[in-house]
Amino acid sequence: MDFAQELKGQVDIVRVISDYVRLRRYGNRFSGLCPFHNEKTPSFSVYNEHQYFKCFGCDAKGDVFNFVMNIEGLTFWEALKKLAEQHGIPLPKQSLAGDERTKVRAGLYEMHEIALEHFQRNLAAGSAASVRSYLGERGVTKASVDQFQIGYADGSGRSLLKLLEQRGFRPEQLETSGLVARRDDGGFYDRFRNRVMFPIHNESGKAIAFGGRALDPEDKAKYMNSPETDIYKKSQVLYNLFRAKNTAMKLDRILLVEGYMDVIGATQAGATEAVATCGTALTVEQIRAMKRHSQNLHLNFDPDSAGAKAAERSIAMLLDENMRIRIVELEGGLDPDEYCKEHGAEAYLERVAKAKAYFYWLADRARGRFDMRDPQGRVDAFKFLMPSIHGLHDPIERAAVAQDIATYLGLERGLVLDQFRKVALDRTGRQPQKAADPARATDRILLPVLLTDSDVRDQILGSLQKLNTWRRFSTTPIYETLLKMHENGDAISYETVNARLSESQQEMLAGIVLVREENPQPTVDDAHSCLVTLQRHETEDALRELRNQIKLAEREGRIAEALDLMQKEREMTRFLNGLR
Ligand code: UTP
Ligand code: MN
Repeated sequence: MDFAQELKGQVDIVRVISDYVRLRRYGNRFSGLCPFHNEKTPSFSVYNEHQYFKCFGCDAKGDVFNFVMNIEGLTFWEALKKLAEQHGIPLPKQSLAGDERTKVRAGLYEMHEIALEHFQRNLAAGSAASVRSYLGERGVTKASVDQFQIGYADGSGRSLLKLLEQRGFRPEQLETSGLVARRDDGGFYDRFRNRVMFPIHNESGKAIAFGGRALDPEDKAKYMNSPETDIYKKSQVLYNLFRAKNTAMKLDRILLVEGYMDVIGATQAGATEAVATCGTALTVEQIRAMKRHSQNLHLNFDPDSAGAKAAERSIAMLLDENMRIRIVELEGGLDPDEYCKEHGAEAYLERVAKAKAYFYWLADRARGRFDMRDPQGRVDAFKFLMPSIHGLHDPIERAAVAQDIATYLGLERGLVLDQFRKVALDRTGRQPQKAADPARATDRILLPVLLTDSDVRDQILGSLQKLNTWRRFSTTPIYETLLKMHENGDAISYETVNARLSESQQEMLAGIVLVREENPQPTVDDAHSCLVTLQRHETEDALRELRNQIKLAEREGRIAEALDLMQKEREMTRFLNGLR
């Protein structure tokens, strides 16, 4: 067995996926919202027994390697290495190298690790006393400096470059890392100079980029961020998610703020579920990354007009992804970091706890934007709010919210109800059709058991082979594959059988074995009685055929033959009675 197979045998796919997706248990299955597409009800399932996952919505599926590769954007080798390390299983020497892309990325990770330590050493050095006191004045504790691995990029413009060269990185590697930049004359220099450095990590906790805050107020850019690289895709990363996800899972809520300092301030105050976008507009990928841990989001953007606009845009996107949103409002025009510093941890946590549902915040925005004394202004305000009320999927909640908002804005009931009927009509028009289930009852019972129980295979496959009924099933090729593998003594599992099937057969098998409903898993007894039913049907068919032959022989005067057949008929009838 190769190392990947061996590793797979030792890794529990449910535990691995639970780090990324909130799962609930249904018997042998675990189910949750699919991390690979947008959905309101869970169609993503993880099968303990088959060590397999499948989404019935978007058809994402595979084993533990496929999952880790897709969710983290890793190569196969990286996924292998990550899982091996996580489970304390030593990698065999020859598998360390991996493919070309893995090597390139390994170099990038290493350069970031070196840079991170270099920046940390810089900050601890005697010469950086003023930087440390800057952080102190901003309320960043020593513990936070350590926790967030905050560092300092000195002003020389060459120290990191020299270090990386010493460690043997080639110029083209340096350039692709984004840590150094190229001058017009071809030489290199450090991208970050005289800045406080915030490392940005991927969800596994590896440093993949940096955000650097200028110390010199004259500096043109207050923040400078790493460019995109082979290991850093801005639209997919949230600052601090790898730390925040534990609290987010536990409390079932996540706090989204705008800046690095906001995350640090909120975390120091005790809101350890805080994450931030890194200076970009919120993306769908980022929303999905949060949603995997919790669907409940507290939004706490800056209260200035840019922040409020960003919040409005974000709310629309978040609703599209079925997130439940509350808005944290802070008085005095302060951002989270400033608020924590000025009013303290307790006050901030209270603001978070008291955050109101987003539509009240939007209603306040509408009041400011439209003339509420004018009837038309009130209607416009309501229209402005409609899309976000649409976003609520519980119809009772939706009606209640609409009423609340109408009252809040001083609108007539009739108008609200009118708008509502329209929305309701739109909705019923868009109901998706439920697909018919083509799988046979027999398959639903036999296949899952045959795939997982070798004793049953020994007991049943021999008898099954003697029968003909299953040769008319649409699933015949699956049984044939199973029989052949059993004969050859091959290892049989969902995976190994699946691997030998055509794509359409794989679909069929998944549809039968990986069921989503809370059906009980078929038992060994079920499988036996299923076999008996098949035998019975087949014997009944054969008996009917035999009786026809007897009649024909009698009519044509072939008496000896008829008597022979009658003997057979008696035996068969006895066998059939035994089956009943
Ligand atoms: P803010 O301007 O609100 O900064 O930008 P801040 O987080 O409050 O920082 P301090 O308190 O002034 O130090 C919020 C976030 O937007 C990104 C950064 O990620 C920042 O944390 N940003 C901001 C940039 O990428 N570039 C900029 O020039 C400014
Ligand atoms: Mn700030």
